[in-house]
Amino acid sequence: MDPHPIGVFDSGIGGLSVVRALQSLAPHERIVYFADTDWFPYGGRPEAEIRKRSFAIARRLMDAGCKLIVVACNTASAAALKDLREASPLPFVGMVPGLKSAASSSRHVVVLATPGTLRGELYAEVEHRFANGVRVVDVSGANLAAIVESGLAGTATARTAVRAVLGPAIEAGADTVVLGCTHYAFLAADIATEFPGLAIIDTSEAVARHALRVLADAGLEAPPNNEGGLDLIVSGDREQFRTAMHSVGFAGEPAEAAS
Ligand code: DGL
Repeated sequence: MDPHPIGVFDSGIGGLSVVRALQSLAPHERIVYFADTDWFPYGGRPEAEIRKRSFAIARRLMDAGCKLIVVACNTASAAALKDLREASPLPFVGMVPGLKSAASSSRHVVVLATPGTLRGELYAEVEHRFANGVRVVDVSGANLAAIVESGLAGTATARTAVRAVLGPAIEAGADTVVLGCTHYAFLAADIATEFPGLAIIDTSEAVARHALRVLADAGLEAPPNNEGGLDLIVSGDREQFRTAMHSVGFAGEPAEAAS
């Protein structure tokens, strides 16, 4: 057993969707969350830049004593997961669009993700393995992550944007959308309102379960009487981050700034 925290990071509040799942499955685990808002959005940045940020953040989380790191960002997973695993003795858990699960129940799927995720090798592998016989339409999320990061999930602005981005593929017959960016998990209700009956695949809970399984297999779970909690580190404007996190149902204060 190990009372040290789990590290989680993303470009902004998106990875809190994984934190939410971790907290509900294992409330006694402590979590240190790094939001790289100074570098948001990752989606259109060069891979090398995201890799560099991911290594710096992983170092910061290791310095905080983290026992496992969840790369709660599909774009950073595409750019850096493999290299992070190779370079560090710590276990890393990452994200890839949930095409496997979508393809088990649909023949016409939209994968909604950032340009960085859609052009990455990780996604190419998943598409190669699981998209057989399935029509897969890759759609770049345009301004959707920025809408969530501005605290606008659940508003008319979000619903209009979701309709504009997903409408054409759904009108063409797609019946399932894969949320391939952790920010989009916070748009699930808006998507469901705009497109009733559309199946929505969100992998945040599956990733949280996987992270806890990795911990259990390594004997690194926190003891049951451990005091859980969430420490927040933000590289950009803390006030803005606080507004954004409150908009998706997280209370609390970003306690620390970082670069
Ligand atoms: N949350 C990130 C992801 O899962 C992307 C958001 C961004 O573009 O920074 O891909």
